[in-house]
Amino acid sequence: MNQPVSRSTWTNRWAFILVTIGSAVGLGNIWKFSYLVGAKGGSAFVLVYLCCVALIGLPLLMAEILIGRRGRGNPVAAMLNTAEETGNSSWWALLGWVGMLGALVILSYYSVVAGWIADYLYQAAIGVRVETAAAAAQAFADLERDPLRMGFWHTVFLALSVGVTARGVVAGIEVANKIMMPSLFLILVLLTVWGAVAGDMPAALHFMYDFKIKALTPGVVLSAMGQAFFSLSLGMGAIMTYGSYLDKEARIGYVSLWVAVAGSLVGLLSGMAIFSLTFGYGLDPSVGPELILQALPLAFAHMPGGQLVAVLFFVFVLFAAWTSAISLLEPFVSWLTERYGIHRAKAAWGTGVPVWLLGLAVCMSFSRWSDFTMFGRNLFDALDQCATNVMMPLSGLAIAIYVGWMMGRAPVRDEMKLGVRAFPLWFNVLRYVVPVGIVLVFFHVLGLLDWLK
Ligand code: TRP
Repeated sequence: MNQPVSRSTWTNRWAFILVTIGSAVGLGNIWKFSYLVGAKGGSAFVLVYLCCVALIGLPLLMAEILIGRRGRGNPVAAMLNTAEETGNSSWWALLGWVGMLGALVILSYYSVVAGWIADYLYQAAIGVRVETAAAAAQAFADLERDPLRMGFWHTVFLALSVGVTARGVVAGIEVANKIMMPSLFLILVLLTVWGAVAGDMPAALHFMYDFKIKALTPGVVLSAMGQAFFSLSLGMGAIMTYGSYLDKEARIGYVSLWVAVAGSLVGLLSGMAIFSLTFGYGLDPSVGPELILQALPLAFAHMPGGQLVAVLFFVFVLFAAWTSAISLLEPFVSWLTERYGIHRAKAAWGTGVPVWLLGLAVCMSFSRWSDFTMFGRNLFDALDQCATNVMMPLSGLAIAIYVGWMMGRAPVRDEMKLGVRAFPLWFNVLRYVVPVGIVLVFFHVLGLLDWLK
C-alpha cells in the first residue's frame, strides 16, 4: 500500500551525486564547521571529524541510501516496505517519522542562519563596510537584536526553498543543482586561492592540521561526531528520500564516496580560506556562531576588491544553504504527496508554514525571548544541540542496527552491489564500528562510562 505506482528518478547518476552533494554541502560545512573548528581547538576537532566521516559517516550514508532505494519511498514508506520485505516490525517506521520531523526542526533554524547570510549579502551589495573589529561585532549584535529584520530574511529564504520543492523532484531540485553546484566549487577554489594570497595561510594550516592531543576532550569528540552527521545530512531521512529516486543500477558505495569526499573537501577548503583570512587580519577564531559573520566582513573591508569577494562569498554560501534546505523539506513533502495524494505544490507550501513559524520563534530567541531557555540555552542553541548531538547520533545508531543486524545479509548484499571484498568490509564496519563508536562517544559524554568504572 505504501508502494507508489511510478516514481520519478534522476535523469542520470551524476544528477543524483550532484543533488546529494547539494544536500550535504551547506551551512554545515562553511558556517558551522569553521566556527566549531575555531571554538573547539582547531586540529583536534578536524582530525576527529575526518575519522568520524570515514568510519561512521560514510558507512551510514551508504546504509541510508540503501534503505531508500530498497524501500522506494519517503522515509516512512521506505522503512515500512523494507521492514515488511525482511520480516521486521513495522515499528521501525518510527525511524522515518523521527527523521522527517527532525528535518523540519533543523530547517526552522537553518533558514534563520541562511537569513543572516542573506542579510550580509544585501549589506555587502549595497556597499556597507565595517572597518574595525568593534564595528563588526556591533553589526552582528544589531542583527541579533532585530527579530523583524532577521524574520524578513528567514521568510525570503524559506519561501525560495519551498518554491523549488513545490516545482517537483526533477524539474525543481535537479535543475537548480545543475547550475548551483559547479559554480559553488569555482567560487570556493577562488576564495581559497585568495586566502593564500591575501591572508595568513601558514597560520591557518598550523591551526587546522598540527595535531595537539591535549585539545581532545569528550565534548570536542561529540561535537566532531555530531558535525560529521550534520555535514553529511545523515539520520533525518533526507538522504533516504533522495536514495529512493536513485536507479537500481547505480553503485551506492561509489556514489557515497563521492559525496563524502566532496563534503569534507568543501569543509577543509572553506576552513583554510576562512582561517587564513582570520589570522591574516589578526581576528579571534573562537568567537562562536558569528565567526564568519564577524571576521569575514572585516577582512573583506580591508582587501582590495573586497566588496566583490564578499558578494561572491555570500552568494556561494547561500547557494549551498539553498540546496540543503530543499533536502530538509523533501522527506516530509514526499510523504504528504505519496501518502495522501496531495498536490506537490500544496504539500510544500503547507509544510513551509509550521517551519516558518518555528523559525520566527528562533528569531525572537536572540532578543526578546532570550530569557526562555532549555538546559541553559536559548531556543536556537537548544534546537541545534538536540538535533545534531542527540537525534542524529541516535537515529544513526538505529540505522546501523537496522541495516547491519535486522534486515539480513542477503537483501543488503543484493542491494549494495559491492565487490566480494568490499562488501564484508563495509558490512562489518556498519555492524561493529559504527554502533560501538556512537555508543562510546555518546555515553562518554553523558559521563556514564565514569559511572560504570
Ligand atoms: N548537510 C547540510 C549542511 O551541512 C545540512 C543538511 C541538509 C542536513 N539536509 C540535512 C542535516 C539532513 C541533517 C540532516 O549544511
